[in-house]
Formats: sequence, C-alpha cells, structure tokens
Amino acid sequence: TTTSLDHKVADLSLAERGRHQIRLAEHEMPGLMTLRERLGSQRPLAGARIAGSLHMTVQTAVLIETLVELGAEVRWASCNIFSTQDEAAAAVVVGPDGSPEEPRGVPVFAWKGETLEEYWWCTTQIMLWPDGGPNMILDDGGDATMLVLKGREWEQQGAVPSPEPEDPEEWKVILETVRAGLAEHPTRWGDVAAGVRGVTEETTTGVHRLYQLHEAGQLLFPAINVNDSVTKSKFDNVYGVRHSLVDGINRATDVLIGGKVAVVCGYGDVGKGCAEALRGQGARVVVTEIDPICALQAAMDGYQVARLDDVIGQADFVVTATGCKDVVTAEHMRHLKDKAVLGNIGHFDNEIDMAGLARVPGVRRTEIKPQVHEWTLPAETVDGTERPERSFIVLSEGRLLNLGNATGHPSFVMSTSFTNQVLAQIEIFTRPQDYPVGVHTLPKALDEEVARLHLASVAAHLTELTKDQASYLGVDVAGPYKPDHYRY
Ligand code: NAI
Repeated sequence: TTTSLDHKVADLSLAERGRHQIRLAEHEMPGLMTLRERLGSQRPLAGARIAGSLHMTVQTAVLIETLVELGAEVRWASCNIFSTQDEAAAAVVVGPDGSPEEPRGVPVFAWKGETLEEYWWCTTQIMLWPDGGPNMILDDGGDATMLVLKGREWEQQGAVPSPEPEDPEEWKVILETVRAGLAEHPTRWGDVAAGVRGVTEETTTGVHRLYQLHEAGQLLFPAINVNDSVTKSKFDNVYGVRHSLVDGINRATDVLIGGKVAVVCGYGDVGKGCAEALRGQGARVVVTEIDPICALQAAMDGYQVARLDDVIGQADFVVTATGCKDVVTAEHMRHLKDKAVLGNIGHFDNEIDMAGLARVPGVRRTEIKPQVHEWTLPAETVDGTERPERSFIVLSEGRLLNLGNATGHPSFVMSTSFTNQVLAQIEIFTRPQDYPVGVHTLPKALDEEVARLHLASVAAHLTELTKDQASYLGVDVAGPYKPDHYRY
C-alpha cells in the first residue's frame, strides 16, 4: 500500500533541481557525511521522532537526510517566512529515491514567502504526527519550543489569553494558532510537551530564550545549546555571515559597496563577520555597540565606533546584528540618505521598527521585487532641515536578509554547525541520564571532533603533540586541548 506523504511545499517538480544542489552540497559537508559513514549502520537515532524548525535550505536538506540515515523519523518546517529554498524543500519531500508523483522522503511544511498565519500553521504541523507527537525538537530561534510550551501552559490554564491591541501582529497570530490547535485537539499540547525528551537549539537568540525559560522554571525538558559550541558560533556566525551578508545585499540591490559608509549595529560574532565582509568590499565601516568590551574590540579592529543617532545620516548601508529590539527606529529612518539600504541579519525582525515605519504619515512602499522594498518618505522638516521626498531600500521586510535575499550560509560552514546539531540530537536521545532538565553545551571533545572532521577539506595538517609536550601542557595527546573557560 502507498500512503501519500504528508507535506506542503511550493512545487514538487522542483525536486530534481533541488537534488542536484543537495548532491553538490554533500561534497562540501564532510562533517555530516562522515557521521553517515561512521554511524549509519548503528542507527543511533532509531526511534527518534524529530520535529525540526530551521531554515529549509539546501544545507538543511543534507542535515535532514543525515538524521534519517541515522535512524530518525523527521518532520520539518522553516523557522522564517522567507528562508525556504523551494527546490530544497521539494527534494526532501520527494526523497533520494522517490518521484514527484510518488514522494518517499520526509514531510516538509515550508515555502518561500509564507504569511505569518501559514508560518505558524507549518510549525504546528511538525508537532502533529499521524500517531502522536515528536520526542525531540531541533530548533532555530526557539519558535517550535515556544509553541509547545505556551500551548501546554494555556491548555492547563483552560484558555488562550486574548490579544491586547498593542500586541505585535505576530503574537496575535500565535495566540490564534494555539487557540485553533486547542479547539481541534483538546489535549494535544500537553501530550506533545510530555513526549519531548529534549531540544537542540541552533542560534544565539533561541539559546537566549532557553536560558530565560530555564531561569523562570518553565523549561520542561533538557536543551543543548548548539550555538555555543565553538565550532558553531565562532564559525557560522562569523565566517558564514562574512559570506552571506554581502551575497544578500548583492542579490537584492547590486549597489556597489566599495567607497560607501556601512554601519553595522552590534559587534558580536555576527557583527564581526558583517564588518569584515563590508570592509573587504572597500566600505568604510562604522560599528555601534552597547557592550564596552565589544566596542573596544571594534575599535582595536580599526572600525569607528559611534552612536547610530550620530552617523545615521552618513550611512549608505545599515545592517543590524544585535539580537536586540528597536535598534533602528522610524525616527532613525527619517535621517537616512536618499536610496540608503537598510537590512537586518539578526534572528528576528524586531531589530528594525518596521511597524513604526509603516505608521509614518505619508510613507509609501513600492515593491522592487520580492523581499526588496523601497520606502518613500514625504518632504518634511527633519531637525530643522528641509528634506525633500526621498526613499530608502529595506531588505526582506526587516527579516534576516542573508536568508531572505540570498540562500543563507554556504555548505561548508553549515557542515560545522549541523554536525554539532546531529551530535547534540544523538547525545540527548541516547544519553538522557547525562542531560537533566537545563541548558547544556556539547562536551569539548565533540567540539574538537567537529573541527577535526573539516580539516582535510581545507588541506589543513594538524600538528600532533608528543607525549612529553602533552604532559608539559597538562593535556591528553588526543585532547581536549583547552579549558572550558578558553574563549578562542
Ligand atoms: P552576540 O550576542 O554575539 O552579538 C550581539 C551583539 O549586539 C552584542 O555584542 C551586543 O552587545 C550587541 N548589542 C545588543 N544590543 C545592541 C544595541 N541596541 N545596539 C548595538 N549593539 C547591541 O550574538 P550573535 O551571535 O552575533 O547573534 C546576533 C543575532 O544574529 C542573533 O539574533 C542571532 O540569533 C542571529 N544570527 C543570525 C545568523 C544569520 O545567518 N542570519 C547566524 C547566526 C546568528
């Protein structure tokens, strides 16, 4: 008997194009492919039912198929409305040996350009298995985890709270999604939450939410903070962004970066990658920071450190990379130069006040192409200066531009991130006794192993310690080589 595979993607006929891209990506993802070779026959994830919420790109397709090869059952949604690569989503549904007519892959619920309602519908689908719920969550930004925990909380309280008029639009949609879920399946969220053995979280913002949940005593299952593996945040966030920020700007605008002034808000891991990439293109880069350590780092790296208020009028490009909210306000935007480019590369769209921009009297929005909009401000007096009508370009409606305007990070760097993800899934699933409820990071030995798996591809030859040298340093010849407090 054939059961039709549950899914919702843009177009299954894109699967062949997606499969070719996946095949090329596999070549660039040695960490994931080595895990398949080493662990495929042991199937350590047999019995795992993973609900994945992470940008549905070509690289994520290789992650999903690795989880499946290691024995897991998987359902997937994207963690952003614009980040899906439709050909990758189609290829994953069709599977390596299926066809568009008879898909044999993995249920995926994701397409590029979802509405918020569709986005939360998709996230709900990964929690609804034909026979129960997931027992693992693989999250990027924490939306899947939040849906389960909030759903359970409101179910226990007997009602979903009513949205307040001042609530953000997205929150209203979340409340409605959970309300609808409760109406359809009265006990679903509590059951789902009870079934989850753990979550592995990909990004800084999601990890931040997990620590907050745990402090409030609301985390119900163990979590692994994948972001803070060194081979994740010191690679993906920095070198990944160094590639994909400029990729996004270029595909969106084709405006020359060289010679221009680029303001980068935030000089954490992502901001460092942004600043380096923009400087590499010949821009004069200005950094804004709230943390004196990061501000001083930016200065030592040769960047001007300034307040946005003081430099906004000189910026040709403004990029937010803070994980904070209201970093670029509507008031800032009134000071922008004509045709400046404004974008965000942090996880959520609240870094740039898009709602405030839409409320500016007389403002006009023109679609240049999907995910590229020109916002025109009327002639007005700004701080005593007459300003004629002028416009600026907003990328991906303020959502992360490297995934909205381009295809996110390239495969090699995602291999380091996703190898950590797979190891984290295996750790929680197979060694629950080692991971009580709380937020954990992977042991350093695994972090070093992830790096080791990627050395050969870049023709890097590692020096080996002699026994004598190792005992002089007080480490094992095989590592780990650094204490946990070492910062790289
Ligand atoms: P981080 O914590 O290392 O850096 C953020 C920096 O922003 C910090 O140094 C902080 O002091 C600074 N900051 C906070 N509020 C600020 C404000 N109001 N003005 C100026 N600076 C401010 O975090 P990381 O890893 O750099 O991540 C930043 C964001 O990017 C997060 O939302 C993360 O989830 C996301 N991310 C996005 C990726 C992508 O591909 N688009 C990849 C990796 C992370």
